[in-house]
Amino acid sequence: MFKDMEIRIESGERVRDVLPLIAGEGELYLVYDSEVAPWAGEIAGAARAAIAIEASEENKSMDTVLSICRQLMEAGASRKALVLAVGGGITTDMAGFAASIYKRGIRYANLPTTLLAQVDAAVGGKTGVNLDDYKNMLGVIVQPVFTFLTPEVLKTLPERELCSGAAELLKTFLIGDAAAYGEAVRVLREGRDLGKLILRAASIKADIVRRDPFEHGERRVLNLGHSFAHALEHEARLREDDLSHGEAVGIGILLAARLSERLGLAETGLEERLRADFVAAGLRTDCPYPLECLAAPMAKDKKAADGTVHFILPVRPGEVIIRALTPAEAVRALIA
Ligand code: GLY
Repeated sequence: MFKDMEIRIESGERVRDVLPLIAGEGELYLVYDSEVAPWAGEIAGAARAAIAIEASEENKSMDTVLSICRQLMEAGASRKALVLAVGGGITTDMAGFAASIYKRGIRYANLPTTLLAQVDAAVGGKTGVNLDDYKNMLGVIVQPVFTFLTPEVLKTLPERELCSGAAELLKTFLIGDAAAYGEAVRVLREGRDLGKLILRAASIKADIVRRDPFEHGERRVLNLGHSFAHALEHEARLREDDLSHGEAVGIGILLAARLSERLGLAETGLEERLRADFVAAGLRTDCPYPLECLAAPMAKDKKAADGTVHFILPVRPGEVIIRALTPAEAVRALIA
């Protein structure tokens, strides 16, 4: 029933290359992160109105989504309007969610300005906001009409953000392309241009989402490292520590590799091999909290059901398997 879902990835050298894709839009509204106002400014002339948001985890809330909806309403946006989100994953998640509920749903498109959003958050139609301390607890899966990828935005991206995105890039290749994984580690180590690898990662993700848009099965593999990552981010928020999503994902993948080895599923030494690769690629690899802290927030993750979590376990680069375990079982195996 959901086969052949349209997932459109477009690309161009510069931000302005998106203009032909939106040329016919009579009612275009930009929703952009104020941090990337210069990029939004490149295309603002094509929009009827531009709505700025402060994109932070604290502001990733229904209040911000309602404010976007209210501004769309005040600007007179009809059901024909297209919302174009310009920013990182927080922006594309919130703009997509606002569009998906405004007047029972209008179209949206993404112009991600971070590496993380280009290879993950802005592809695949997951939208939403946090609820209290729990990430992405509210939201819907609605596909953007397109996601436009351009390397131009990465030129001004801070190193730490680039490394966060690199974790999601490597995640995608660990799931589905061993050769691209090796190439990505080399390119990151040497600080070379990621252009083609970004398109490859977005296309691997798009293929998975086309086959399982609502995450009933195969799409779960895209959560490699994420059960641990969300628990680490939860702990970081409690302690008011600064840990980005991508950093947590990198550490989470290493924990998943360790778990996979402990369960006798991964090839021996996988965690150490990945750790060496991640260090070479500039990723953060130290787990900042005792592993015992992770079980309770994992049990409350929105993906937990009947007390178990589907852990995505790497076997070797390019191959993962899914195992349902309770968070307590997983943490016990890690500590053993
Ligand atoms: N970020 C994982 C997914 O989109 O399914």
